[in-house]
Amino acid sequence: MTSLMSVDAQILQALRSASSGAVSGSEMSQKLGISRAAIWARIEELRKLGYDIEASPHRGYRLLSAPDVLHADDLSWRLEKGQMIGRDIRVFEETTSTSDVIDKLARDGVKEGAVVFAEAQTNGRGRLGRKWMSPARKGLWFSLLLRPNLSPQSATQLTVASATALRRAIEMATGLKPEIKWPNDILISGKKVAGILTELSAELDRIKYVLVGIGVDVNLDPGDFPSELTALTTSLKIELGKPVVRAELATVILRELDRDYSRVLVGGFAAVADEWEKYCTTLGQRLIIRHGDRHVSGCAESLAEDGALLLRTDHGHLERIVGGDVTLEK
Ligand code: BTN
Repeated sequence: MTSLMSVDAQILQALRSASSGAVSGSEMSQKLGISRAAIWARIEELRKLGYDIEASPHRGYRLLSAPDVLHADDLSWRLEKGQMIGRDIRVFEETTSTSDVIDKLARDGVKEGAVVFAEAQTNGRGRLGRKWMSPARKGLWFSLLLRPNLSPQSATQLTVASATALRRAIEMATGLKPEIKWPNDILISGKKVAGILTELSAELDRIKYVLVGIGVDVNLDPGDFPSELTALTTSLKIELGKPVVRAELATVILRELDRDYSRVLVGGFAAVADEWEKYCTTLGQRLIIRHGDRHVSGCAESLAEDGALLLRTDHGHLERIVGGDVTLEK
């Protein structure tokens, strides 16, 4: 697990917000309540992690560049105080899947709002049992734990809310114009850039917990994708033509997820659904939905109150779709 003492996060914060670009050792020492020698020792540690910090006897310390790494305390520091999602952040250098880690935390009784990031996953999983490629430091691979007071039937609302928040966050952080493909793929120019895997542990009438796993292809280059995926997938870096600072994007995503999760909990799903429908390119399209051996085709009409997709089948029935593999009918 990557650990960064919160004093390091405070030093980084002071360096980032220094109005003249530099901050003196004595100013930081006063602000943080530790000696100048202790500040110097921490600066040395930050340099070892890849932070390029200039030290000049007259001007003080100046942050020249920061490595694109995720640190729990740095992420926490960036989040709005009082935000529920992200109140407990853990970052792993490598794990099998953040879903495995968060599931264990959930079973151990950890409070909702916990988020687990991994710089790399060796066994990343997608929907429908697919593999999810998670190369080191190229994307955001994370899972969050929710314990909503909702019926299991309403869990789809969380999937819809997560997709809405993720789409909006990517737009806010990059200026790109992502779309949603039902139920929760995020596309840019018709190619997938992010996906969400919602896993539920429930009793008959009560959700015990929900695990929301999110994968965002942030700084992958074209060569990082296997050739069979290049026509279907993209990354934010490819679309923007420049890399994205993952910690900044992660902060915006967690903030927007917190916002939409709160909206669902107070009965505001209708507003979330309106936003989802506005950006969902699946609506109005003719689709084939495959579920194992079974498939149904029809026209995607709208979103039901519980988040299910309402499909007008070729026989004229309105069918509720809550899962499956969705493809556009050619
Ligand atoms: C999909 O579109 O199929 C969903 C992809 C979800 C991938 C994320 S990456 C973090 C979390 N851990 C996993 O193993 N999967 C999810």
